[in-house]
Amino acid sequence: MTRGFVMSEINQNRNLNNQYSLLVKVIHWLMAFGFVLMWSSGYLMHGFFAEDSAGEEFIFAMHISTGVLLVMLLIARIIARVLIRPPALPAGFTALDKRMAHAGHLALYILPAVIMTLGWAETDFGGHGVTLFGIPMPKLFPTMDTWMGIKLEDFTSENHEILAWTFLAVVVLHVAAAVKHRMVGHDVLYRMGIGKK
Ligand code: HEM
Ligand code: HEM
Repeated sequence: MTRGFVMSEINQNRNLNNQYSLLVKVIHWLMAFGFVLMWSSGYLMHGFFAEDSAGEEFIFAMHISTGVLLVMLLIARIIARVLIRPPALPAGFTALDKRMAHAGHLALYILPAVIMTLGWAETDFGGHGVTLFGIPMPKLFPTMDTWMGIKLEDFTSENHEILAWTFLAVVVLHVAAAVKHRMVGHDVLYRMGIGKK
């Protein structure tokens, strides 16, 4: 099978009914569900169970394993984003709407990528090792206490936490924007598989 044939297959699947491809829709909703688990488990880890209790250890392991699955989905999503061009934004969008949609979507790729990197780094710096339901994952960062006077575990932990909640705020804006556009008559939800045009 030639590369040209593969590309023409992909091109034929572009902008089908002005919707995202089925693959992108599936990844979008799987990740949205996964992120809800990440915020909930992150909150429960510190806000609910006693330190070092069995409950905390369990939630912590689930947080890391779900995080690893989300890393894989994010990589798949970025590859899909490069190969399958998304449908053009609705004609009713103003230039400002378009700019905000592009900036918002970009932030929704960059923020999780940085948060995941910080979470992975924190786990490796502390020498715990990232695992996927018990299977050891590659050690991407050395076990290390400080670098140029920075306490690495504290630094990554604080920034992971700050960015995780910032990311939640951006997702709330993202959902509000989707609802607002539906209300003013240029629905985008059907483009991601909810409802009909
Ligand atoms: C929970 C985390 C979520 C993340 C990280 C996220 C991320 C994204 C990203 C990155 C895109 C742009 C896709 C692209 O062009 O490559 C997108 C599109 C979209 N998302 Fe989400 N999303 C989330 C949750 C939701 C929820 C809960 C809704 C429901 C209201 C939603 C509705 C949409 C819609 C309708 C689009 C298509 C926008 C368009 O027409 O271009 N998303 N999302
Ligand atoms: C975008 C995906 C992720 C989100 C939304 C997220 C969210 C959170 C939240 C909300 C907390 C609790 C912070 C608090 O105390 O309020 C947390 C803690 C933590 N997360 Fe994540 N996380 C993500 C990915 C990951 C990944 C991929 C890993 C590791 C491979 C990871 C490792 C950790 C660790 C080790 C902690 C404990 C931090 C501490 O020392 O306080 N996270 N995460």
